Amino acid sequence: MDRVVVIGSSGQLGHDLVDELRAAGRFEVIALDHSQIECTDLASTRAALRPLKARAVINCAAFVRVDDCESQASEAFAVNAIGALNVARAAAESGARCVYISTDYVFDGAKDSPYLETDATAPINVYGASKLAGEHLVRQTAADGLIVRVASLFGKSGARGKGGNFIETIVAKARRGEALKVIDDIKISPTYGRDAARAIVQLVAANASGIVHAANSGDCTWFEFAKTALELCQLTAPVEAVPSAQFPTPARRAKNSALASARLQPEFKIAMPHWRDALRTYLGEKGHLPS
Ligand SMILES: NC(=O)c1ccc[n+]([C@@H]2O[C@H](COP(=O)([O-])OP(=O)(O)OC[C@H]3O[C@@H](n4cnc5c(N)ncnc54)[C@H](OP(=O)(O)O)[C@@H]3O)[C@@H](O)[C@H]2O)c1
Repeated sequence: MDRVVVIGSSGQLGHDLVDELRAAGRFEVIALDHSQIECTDLASTRAALRPLKARAVINCAAFVRVDDCESQASEAFAVNAIGALNVARAAAESGARCVYISTDYVFDGAKDSPYLETDATAPINVYGASKLAGEHLVRQTAADGLIVRVASLFGKSGARGKGGNFIETIVAKARRGEALKVIDDIKISPTYGRDAARAIVQLVAANASGIVHAANSGDCTWFEFAKTALELCQLTAPVEAVPSAQFPTPARRAKNSALASARLQPEFKIAMPHWRDALRTYLGEKGHLPS
C-alpha cells in the first residue's frame, strides 16, 4: 500500500481527507496534527516527514482566519507560505510528492463567471496573498507538485481555525428563532469537505500535478446558500438578503470567488456533485433533515 501523510489532520478538510484516504482502501494513511508537526519550522517538518518515506504528503495546515490575517500578516505568511515551502522541501527530500491545498481567495473577483485554473491570480487580502505565495514556493520546490484549490468548505468537523462552519451557524440561529441577515452580493462555490477530499484522493491516485480546482459544481451567493439550507431543513426563520457593505470586515472579500475546473472532468474523469446535492447530503449526515 502507498503511504500518504496528511498534515493538519485534525482540521476540517484534513479530517475528511483521512476518512476518504482510508475508505479508498489502497493507502496507508499517516495523520499528523499540529502536536506532531510544526510546519513553520523546517527542522520539525523534516523530523516528522523524513522517517515516513511517504509517496505523497498532503498539506492542509493553514492560518485560515481571513480577517485576522490582516493584523497578523507575519503569522499568516509563516504558516501559509513558509510552512508550505518547508513541507515541499521536506517532502522532496524524503521522495514524496507534495500536495498543497490552496484557495479561491487567490483571485480578485473581477471575473463574472467561475474561475478556472488558467485564470490570472490577483489576491485582494493578506490571506489570499499568503496562500498564493505558498503556491509559488511549492511550484518552485517541487516540479511535480500538486496544488488543489478548494472553496467555501462545509465539512463535518467545521474549520478549527474559524470555530465551525457557515451552515451550522445558520441552522443554529434559525432554530433559536433569530432573524438572519445574509450577504447577497458575493458569489461562492460552496463545497462539501468530503467531496473535495474525495477528489483530492483521486488526484493523488492519478499522480496529478500542477493546479487543479476542486469545488462542488454550480455557484450561488451566501444568501442563496443559507436560504437553501433552511428550506431543506424546513426551518422558517426569516432571512434577509443584504449587501456586504452592511458587514464591513478587516479583509476585503472578492465579489466572485466561485471556482470551476477545466481539468477535473476532462483529464481525471472526476465529477463533482452540484452544491445543492452536496448540501442535502451534508444536512442528512448531520441529522438536520426532517424525518
Ligand atoms: N475553510 C474554508 O472554507 C477553505 C476555503 C478555501 C481553502 N481552504 C484551505 O483548505 C485547507 C484546510 O482548511 P480547513 O478549513 O480544514 O482549516 P482548519 O480546520 O483550520 O485546519 C487547519 C489545520 O492546520 C493545523 N495547523 C495550523 N497551523 C499549523 C502549523 N503551523 N503547523 C502544523 N499544523 C498547523 C491546525 O491545527 P490546530 O488547529 O491544532 O492549530 C488544523 O488542524 C487550508 O489550506 C485552507 O487554506 C479552506
